[in-house]
Amino acid sequence: MTPTLLRAEGLTAGYGKMPILHDVTLEVRVGEMVSVIGPNGAGKSTAFKTMVGFVHATSGRVVFDGQDITGLRPDQVLPRGLAYVPQGRIVFPEMTVLENLEMGAYIERDGARIRESLERVYALFPVLSQRMGQKAGTLSGGEQQMLAIGRALMTHPELILLDEPSLGLSPKFVSLIFDTLAEMKRAGYTLMVVEQNAAKALAVADRAYVLELGRNRFEGTGAALLADPDVKRLYLGG
Ligand SMILES: Nc1ncnc2c1ncn2[C@@H]1O[C@H](COP(=O)(O)OP(=O)(O)O)[C@@H](O)[C@H]1O
Ligand SMILES: [Mg+2]
Repeated sequence: MTPTLLRAEGLTAGYGKMPILHDVTLEVRVGEMVSVIGPNGAGKSTAFKTMVGFVHATSGRVVFDGQDITGLRPDQVLPRGLAYVPQGRIVFPEMTVLENLEMGAYIERDGARIRESLERVYALFPVLSQRMGQKAGTLSGGEQQMLAIGRALMTHPELILLDEPSLGLSPKFVSLIFDTLAEMKRAGYTLMVVEQNAAKALAVADRAYVLELGRNRFEGTGAALLADPDVKRLYLGG
């Protein structure tokens, strides 16, 4: 069986004293593309923030690549190969595409490895190589999202957590982002993606989870959830 890369088990976490997540369990195996869907406010972003250490769990644990990373800070988690692309296409607008990508490699000292990472990012997103000298703030929304993803890939991650990569993009760019996810999976990346675009997210996923009110509600293969009458009725608009 394919080994588990990340397992978040029984996470209870929140902000201040107020719990948002209640006993949430999520898992990704090597090479998988896993989607996490659910209504606004379900705790999807909080789950990702807890896994990478921005939010502290009051119970449960996170095991990544066989090591317990529960309670570690984001700057301790990142070098272990867990990359996180937060919601909102965050790029440095006044810096060029190339400078943004180089910022992503700030934990890397070896120039040859940085060049190799750049080559891989440019191979995956040729548009970024065409625009390497352009200020990031002048890119389209879809291109900025590719840059945000590309920057996360600069650290050679084993797993990439993407929070709402298609949020706020026009339909053309939404399709482009989903093509990109499929392309990343083909290139051998392991991905876990939060998406409000539930039907598309289930269609590309090997497995998926539905969160609701901070709890696990459904899980299964993308195909099984797409065909599930309850999932259809509740999350896919009938
Ligand atoms: N920084 C924060 N401080 C306090 N409450 C927050 C914060 N971020 C999110 N929340 C609350 O946590 C709940 C889950 O939010 P979130 O994880 O962002 O949901 P989702 O990503 O599924 O839309 C919401 O009720 C939201 O208002
Ligand atoms: Mg969110």
